[in-house]
Amino acid sequence: MKAKVVVVGSLNMDLVARAERLPRPGETLAGETFFTVPGGKGANQAVAVARLGGTVAMVGNVGDDAYGQQLRQALEVEGIDCQAVKVCEGVSSGVALITVDAASQNCIVIIPGGNGLLTPQAVQQFDGLLQAAEVIICQLEVPADTVAWTLARGRELGKTVILNPAPATGPLPTQWLAHIDYLAPNESEAQALTGVPVSDLDSARRAGERLVQLGVRKVIITLGAHGALLVCAQGSRHFPAPKVKALDTTAAGDTFIGGFAAALVRGLTEDAAIAFGQRAAALSVTRAGAQPSIPYLKELP
Ligand code: RIB
Repeated sequence: MKAKVVVVGSLNMDLVARAERLPRPGETLAGETFFTVPGGKGANQAVAVARLGGTVAMVGNVGDDAYGQQLRQALEVEGIDCQAVKVCEGVSSGVALITVDAASQNCIVIIPGGNGLLTPQAVQQFDGLLQAAEVIICQLEVPADTVAWTLARGRELGKTVILNPAPATGPLPTQWLAHIDYLAPNESEAQALTGVPVSDLDSARRAGERLVQLGVRKVIITLGAHGALLVCAQGSRHFPAPKVKALDTTAAGDTFIGGFAAALVRGLTEDAAIAFGQRAAALSVTRAGAQPSIPYLKELP
């Protein structure tokens, strides 16, 4: 079956330590638990699409190590089309070192490994996947020229193009903006992209308006427990978040994006797709880890 969603992005093995609090610079801190689980923003979003009712293909790289095999298998068992997941010889797989504290906050260090070698040509080789898709999703854990090429190709093909600008370190190249249908940052990413300090709904709206003025069609800013804000040329709409007790917020944004895309290709309206993505993300934060926390369609109300 042809995949309706294509994710071009990263696959990481997540090495997760839980501790009472995050360590300070120079400090050695005794933690409580450790586990290793498949992650990476691209792979997490692909898993979310697959579990939440969409068909999906992944375009990305792993290294020629045991993690690479495990990362690919984790996608295959979800029924994700992995023909475009390639092994880079002599390179490690992407790894994320994650610390989660008792308040469910995390900090993450990423070593790109094979993700850093994903070229525009590698994506171009699978142009048939892009042509057959309805929705194309990118993030920023693979090289910028690859993201730029994919966004432009998605626009050229008339697909719905979603960019999750994570991790964001500053403004996006201006030539990317007109290629994006939905830009989906969290609060800190919205701030990094615009320079607008984002601390509440009003400031999030200002940041979203700035991005729309610059050429993005629609912006969905995810605000954690404060919900999500959709901003477009016609105005803005706030979507309150379901109330849950958070255990681990890793991959909550990925679950939202995958859920949103899966709902769009299932024919839900934009508003219903946002609310669906929020319900999925809310459930994910009650569970530990990246891919293990992502819910299945049958678990959602
Ligand atoms: O968004 C969560 C993901 O960020 C983790 O799975 C980790 O791999 C990093 O890429």
